[in-house]
Amino acid sequence: MGGSLRKRPMPCRLLLLLWQLLQLVSSYKFPQYGIDYAPLIWLHSDDPYMPSDIKEHVLHTFPRIDFKRITDPLPLLDLDNLSLLNAYGNDGTEVFLTAVEDVTLFPDWVLGETPDADGALHNSTACAAVAVEHAIPGNIVVVDVFYFYFYSWNEGGDITQVVPPLNKLFPDSKPGDHFGNHLGDWEHNTIRFVDGKPVGIYFSHHSGGESCIWEDEACLSKNGNRPVVFSARGSHANYPSEGSHIHDEALIDIADKGRLWDPVKHAYFYTYDPETETFTAADPGTAPTDWLYFNGNWGDARYPDSDPRQYTVPYFHLKKYDGGPNGPKFKHLVRKGLVPDEKPKTPLMKTLVHWYMGWYRCCLKGINPWVVVVTLLIAFAASIAVCVFTVRLARPRIKAFIMKRKTEKKEGTSDVQLRLLDPERIDADEDDA
Ligand SMILES: *[C@@H]1O[C@H](CO)[C@@H](O)[C@H](O)[C@H]1NC(C)=O
Ligand SMILES: *[C@@H]1O[C@H](CO)[C@@H](O)[C@H](O)[C@H]1NC(C)=O
Repeated sequence: MGGSLRKRPMPCRLLLLLWQLLQLVSSYKFPQYGIDYAPLIWLHSDDPYMPSDIKEHVLHTFPRIDFKRITDPLPLLDLDNLSLLNAYGNDGTEVFLTAVEDVTLFPDWVLGETPDADGALHNSTACAAVAVEHAIPGNIVVVDVFYFYFYSWNEGGDITQVVPPLNKLFPDSKPGDHFGNHLGDWEHNTIRFVDGKPVGIYFSHHSGGESCIWEDEACLSKNGNRPVVFSARGSHANYPSEGSHIHDEALIDIADKGRLWDPVKHAYFYTYDPETETFTAADPGTAPTDWLYFNGNWGDARYPDSDPRQYTVPYFHLKKYDGGPNGPKFKHLVRKGLVPDEKPKTPLMKTLVHWYMGWYRCCLKGINPWVVVVTLLIAFAASIAVCVFTVRLARPRIKAFIMKRKTEKKEGTSDVQLRLLDPERIDADEDDA
């Protein structure tokens, strides 16, 4: 590169330098189309947990590791120095931003801010938009714009949000007993742009998500140029349509056209460089960047079973309170497709429920799930019993066979030993043969 530069005449070199400089400057700009095509969010009409100010959230917490306060003299942290916590607890990953107050009593800041009639928040910055330019296979340059939404509280589902017949497995649960609640909730949409034109959008929900092709009107509805997104009540999982959505095989999210939120009316804007893994504020001085590097978790850790606030749903090990999630940098900012490249791991329980629901639809309808579970357990126990019985029956024969082999071998070895002691024996043996 330097060699070819030297050979070029002066004006050419200057032009090249200027062009490189322009590229450098322009790559730090958050693209206008990232605002023009930004999602509009419908929050659920009954959702008490609204978008929340990211900084306010941090100011109400104190970092803890294993429920113990970090003892170093760490003064108050804010969005300009949160990543100092990466020096503690396994690069910060064991740090939990733990509420100073008892959050299960729902202090005001946990409820966030309700948008006004125009969908604007006035007192909170609850959205961080991050533009990532990179090349995907086929050498196509795309710009993926991530819209991260922050809610201080995530409320999980309750018994009314479990699909039949599995809801029969929780005889003691009542509507309103939510499980999987936690402090701190990061959700996102991603829009992929090619040459400044949107081609598709991704919706995060729970352990996975879904995507729509931009022009697919059956999948995605729009308000002018802007895609319309539905945020489920409590969980804030994002969906392209209102109504009920089944997630994790058997749980139901509910979304409706409750209150409109325009997240980019009041947001932090950044670009992210995949090479250097750095975030740059689109408007330096207005958007803090340090907090984006924080490796820890945005809420209280999962309360232990000994904590009187904690409760475990029998059989499924679902907890009433879960630990807070980690932040935007962990949401696969560089992806080949719109859906993250890595598939989330499927826990055994989810596989079992998937299998059961498949069979339920075809053949088990009308049968109480307990009957199915007990029948399966009996069948399992019976097959184990048959195995044990067979082995018991065959054992004496197998034993006798092994013993026979062993004695044959032993005879072989003693022969060799005898020969070593008495070489004459060889002749005797040969004579025998
Ligand atoms: C973090 O920044 C805030 C505000 O700028 C400041 O008050 C605080 O002392 C800083 N904390 C540390 C540990 O540097
Ligand atoms: C705005 O937020 C501050 C804290 O950041 C709070 O003290 C104040 O009451 C809020 N004002 C409104 C109108 O919500």
